[in-house]
Amino acid sequence: MTPDSIINKGKREPGVGPTTREGGQPVPSENVSITAGPQGPNVLNDLHLIEKLAHFNRERVPERNPHAKGHGAFGELHITEDVSAYTKAAVFQKGAVTPMVARFSTVAGEQGSPDTWRDVHGFALRFYTTEGNFDIVGNNTPTFFLRDGMKFPDFIHSQKRLGRNGLRDADMQWDFWTRTPESAHQVTYLMGDRGTPKTSRHQDGFGSHTFQWVNEAGEAFWVKYHFKTRQGWETFTDAEAQEMAGKNADYQREDLYNAIESGDYPIWDVKVQIMPFDEAEGYRFNPFDLTKVWYQEDYPLIPVGYFVLNRNPENFFAQIEQLALDPGNIVPGTGLSPDRMLMARAFAYADAQRARIGANYRHLPVNQSVNPVNTYEHEGHMQYHFNGAADPTYSPNRYSKGAGYLDDGRTSGSGRDLGAAGDLYVNPDPHGTDLTRAAYVQHPEDGDFVQAGKLYREVFDDAQRERFITNVVGAMQGVSTETEERVYAYWSQVDETLGARLREAYKASHS
Ligand code: HEM
Repeated sequence: MTPDSIINKGKREPGVGPTTREGGQPVPSENVSITAGPQGPNVLNDLHLIEKLAHFNRERVPERNPHAKGHGAFGELHITEDVSAYTKAAVFQKGAVTPMVARFSTVAGEQGSPDTWRDVHGFALRFYTTEGNFDIVGNNTPTFFLRDGMKFPDFIHSQKRLGRNGLRDADMQWDFWTRTPESAHQVTYLMGDRGTPKTSRHQDGFGSHTFQWVNEAGEAFWVKYHFKTRQGWETFTDAEAQEMAGKNADYQREDLYNAIESGDYPIWDVKVQIMPFDEAEGYRFNPFDLTKVWYQEDYPLIPVGYFVLNRNPENFFAQIEQLALDPGNIVPGTGLSPDRMLMARAFAYADAQRARIGANYRHLPVNQSVNPVNTYEHEGHMQYHFNGAADPTYSPNRYSKGAGYLDDGRTSGSGRDLGAAGDLYVNPDPHGTDLTRAAYVQHPEDGDFVQAGKLYREVFDDAQRERFITNVVGAMQGVSTETEERVYAYWSQVDETLGARLREAYKASHS
């Protein structure tokens, strides 16, 4: 299986000669409609005119909410190292080559919005593995603004447009961020250079969450994915990004397409951080909190392989717009974790895709797995695949169609204990499993501003700090006096000098 066999699925033979209607019937004219007399009214039984207009009216599907603006390409994942001690997943075994697709996006903007608006950028990957589709739907930052899925719709609302006037609004953004202190680490990334990557090729990607790996012996590990660009990080300054937004809204889409067309294939090294299962409880930060990283001095990067993007889509709509990436697409040897954001996402994507594309979105070529599907799910809008006449439509049954790998397939066996749900993740929780509404368990060094402060002081250099101040001041323009004060208080907690520096720079920007 190669990327070509995926991108060519569903492609028609080149159209030669006279056209047909979608039903194959010959079309008399693509140019002239039927009227009652040369100057008379159009007729309702001009079948091709009606079909052409009606289909045109249905060309769009709802855009993604969020991550509407994006672009993508196909390629291959190559595993060069032996990580079988940590995972049994076929896709990660040394020597495996797996076809894949990647989609890069911004978060807040709509379909036609500029690629270079300051934003976190989506970095989403699908691997067509022999054990089913495996998706890592991450960003170009290792963290996120929130740690509980309950807040996600509020966060996205604050980044998009006001209901009143359809405008984006700095006051709303800063009001939300400064009342959501766990956002500080991600907002530091966003206001730094990484908020304006130059191209999709010149940025790293991250799975961001903590996931689980399980090896052949059944031992579980916690894992974070890192995708390191071999092209090197390149970023625009705020001014360059804004200028490009006006000049060419599709700058990053065009860059990736042209690079691949000219044979300049971008490559990312795939690395992981591995945390032994039992170390999670004692780590200085809660390792399931998506607003935190695991420091590389604690858990160094381990090489796994690389991926290359070497094929452009054959058709943007069919293969990128209808692409349905989903963190719930996990395969044996990989799993979720107690990260509440990740668990919310495990529900949200397939639900969005049923609404955005349709109940049978997985029947579309780009969403099909390369291994055979054996299911009792059937019917609904736009069903394409169907089971043979001899297949029963229910389980359990007296036929050979089968059931889940833990079922006996002959009876529904109520009363049987099928054990821990290790296909999702293994986690005997030392804090108990009674239903509760409690915040994340705090580890000794947890604090919302700790890692943001380290990023600002120790990772950024002087020039990056200067640009960061300029970017925050730029993004503050238009905030109310009340929110302005909240912004200084927020950044003073990240670094004690920062609030005062920003106050000075904001005042200067108004003088
Ligand atoms: C509870 C938290 C979250 C919810 C409920 C959520 C929900 C969604 C939804 C509904 C979509 C549109 C999917 C579609 O229509 O195909 C989407 C897209 C996306 N989300 Fe999230 N999201 C969450 C958090 C995150 C996080 C933490 C990341 C990154 C680490 C992320 C990265 C992305 C990306 C990259 C896309 C675009 C995927 C593509 O290219 O098709 N999201 N999200």
